Parts: sequence; C-alpha cells; structure tokens
Amino acid sequence: MAKEIFAGIKNLKYKIIISRNAISKKNLGHILKEHNKALIISDNGVPLDITKKVKSISKNYSKVFSVVLTKGEQAKSIQNFQKILNFLAENNFDRTDIIVAVGGGVVGDISGYVASAYLRGIQFIQIPTTLLAQVDSSVGGKTAINISAGKNLVGAFYNPKGVLIDTSVLKSLPEREYKAGLAEVVKYGLIKNKFLFSLLKDNPQKIMLMNKNLIEDVIFESIKTKAEIVSKDEKENGIRALLNFGHTFGHAIEAHGKYKKILHGEAVAKGMFIASKISYLEGHISKKYLKVVKDLLDTYGFDLSVSQYQYRDLKPFIFRDKKIRSGRLNLVLLGGPSKAIITSSFDSNNLKKSLAN
Ligand SMILES: NC(=O)c1ccc[n+]([C@@H]2O[C@H](COP(=O)([O-])OP(=O)(O)OC[C@H]3O[C@@H](n4cnc5c(N)ncnc54)[C@H](O)[C@@H]3O)[C@@H](O)[C@H]2O)c1
Ligand SMILES: [Zn+2]
Repeated sequence: MAKEIFAGIKNLKYKIIISRNAISKKNLGHILKEHNKALIISDNGVPLDITKKVKSISKNYSKVFSVVLTKGEQAKSIQNFQKILNFLAENNFDRTDIIVAVGGGVVGDISGYVASAYLRGIQFIQIPTTLLAQVDSSVGGKTAINISAGKNLVGAFYNPKGVLIDTSVLKSLPEREYKAGLAEVVKYGLIKNKFLFSLLKDNPQKIMLMNKNLIEDVIFESIKTKAEIVSKDEKENGIRALLNFGHTFGHAIEAHGKYKKILHGEAVAKGMFIASKISYLEGHISKKYLKVVKDLLDTYGFDLSVSQYQYRDLKPFIFRDKKIRSGRLNLVLLGGPSKAIITSSFDSNNLKKSLAN
C-alpha cells in the first residue's frame, strides 16, 4: 500500500510518496507536467534500469537532459557543482525548469545544492535509491558539497518539490550498504519512534531480508520521525539536534579513518552504542535498558567494537564536531525508551570510559 507524508512548513510543504512502485507515470507526471525541461542527475553506480525508467517516463512530460557523475563521495565537489551549473546555463534552463535527483545521498546532496543556487533557486525532486537516502538524506532539506577543508562544509537548507521513494529499487543495493542504512532506522527507533523500535525488535530477519511489506513500514516510520523533527526545526537551532544521536562519535570514527575504512551507518552504530553507554553512566537509562539497546544493535549485526580507537585519537574530531555551540560539546543521549535528550552537562570521565569498550 502506497503511503504519503508531508514535510516542510506552510507554503513550502512537500509530499513524500513511499511505495513499491513510486517511480510511476502518475507520480512523476503530476510533478513534471508543469516543467518544460528536466535535468536528471545520477551517478554511474545507480543501476541503469532505474535511471532509464525515470527518463522514459519523464520524456512524456518534459524535454529531458542528463548528467551522470562518477560515483563516490568525491562527486560532491566544487568542480561538479560548477560543471552542472554550466550545463544548465548552456542548455538555457530557466527558473520554471526542474532537476530530478536519482541516486543515493551523494547525488541528492549535490543536486539539491545546485538547485538552490542556479538562478537563485529552481525546483528539484528527489528519487532516492539507497536506503540511507530513502530514510534520511532525501528529507529535511539539507543540501551540501565538500571542500578540501571538510565534508558538507558548503551547502544550503533547500526543500525539494517532492520525494518519490520507490522501495523496489533497493533490491540491487549491496547488503553492506543496506545494513548501514538500517543504522539510521535504529536511530529513529531509539530517539523517538516506539512503534518503529518494536518493528525492529520483533522482525529482524524479515527486515534484514528486505521483506516487501515491512520495508515500506520501516521507511514510512523513519521518514515520519525525521519529518516531524525537521518540520519543527528547519534550520537546526534546537530539536533537530536529536537526529545527531550517535553522530558526534560516528563522525569522529569516520574522520579518523579518513572516510575510507567504514561506512557512515557502521560508524553511527558504534557511535550510538558509545552514546548509550554514556547515557547509562550518567544515570539517564538503566543497565537493563542499555542491554536492550546493545541487543538490538547486535541483532542487526553491527560491529560495536571501539577497541581500535584511542580516546586521544578521537578527541580532536569529537570536539571539532559542527554541533559544538559556544565552546561546549552538546551530547545527544538516551533518556529512556524511544526518548533522547540533549545535554552539555556530563562528566567527561564517562565519555572516556564509554570509549574504552
Ligand atoms: N542531506 C542530508 O540530510 C544527509 C543525511 C545523511 C547523509 N547525507 C550524505 O549522503 C551521502 C551518503 O549517501 P549514500 O549512503 O546513499 O551513498 P552514495 O550516494 O554514495 O551511494 C552509495 C553507492 O550506491 C550506489 N547506488 C545507489 N543506488 C543504488 C541501487 N539502488 N543499487 C545499487 N547501488 C546503488 C551509488 O552509485 C553509490 O556508489 C554522504 O555524502 C552524506 O554526507 C546527507
Ligand atoms: Zn547519519
């Protein structure tokens, strides 16, 4: 059964459609019929049958152009940003035209940023094709590219016109990528969504095997939680920080491995366990609940070991995190089942202890 949710506020609300056949004439036609030209942006890791389908449907409504980037995080570059802007200008795209992002978070992030910048903003839609993009990056309006000083340092808050989440595209996703995406799903269950937490706890086998009905529910519940949080805090001044549960440590682990050793979701899983241990040591959750969290992460096969990292190695990255405001490190901790809290008051010894496995 197709599901729909809205994100964004007031006149900037956008519809997110989740179904096994979201890439359809009906859904794409509804959006594209108002646009003369459409630029489809993807990368060469996105299976061709997906981009071909989007193209062949889009042709019925708009003149279709395409840009295919070389896959990988390095695609989110200033060079590609400029290349796409020039492509749009050379092909006389105007403000009434549209960009269609078909791919994972990399494609979504750069496409959204191009859309925000070209002619001071043209419309774009997201067709996310990785689990991470379907449950996280395609919703919330954050767009970004990387510069040599760091990842995602340049970007804009810019909402899409719509998001089409087609669950059938996930079948070609490598298992490791799929599982890494599940880390963000577990995050929503731990910070807010009780129902999602139970779904995850009760159906690990089916979810890991991408059961058709369950995966739709899992994505819907994830997006629902993200949409609820970001719609209350579009520019990340307050509760949006809850979405960073596990990320201060996850980012530190990723950065320490120079973003080559470990996938984002794998690092976030470790980070969520570290943050849960601090939550216990700080007295916010019981030992019993800490075990429930660990068991859930174990069930989904996440490697939670942190013995390969020394506190002194991670420390500079932890304290460099973007989420530090006026010199104080704000931690997102668990405050109970499906509940997260943000605090800058904690004993730094507990932080050290949690990193000592
Ligand atoms: N904007 C946000 O709010 C937000 C949130 C989280 C992450 N991100 C960003 O997202 C990026 C990571 O996204 P990602 O994990 O999707 O990585 P990705 O976009 O690099 O995709 C991973 C790989 O899978 C391939 N792929 C895509 N769809 C596929 C499919 N259906 N079958 C097989 N292969 C497929 C891609 O070509 C790529 O090689 C990072 O740059 C991160 O900064 C942004
Ligand atoms: Zn994340």
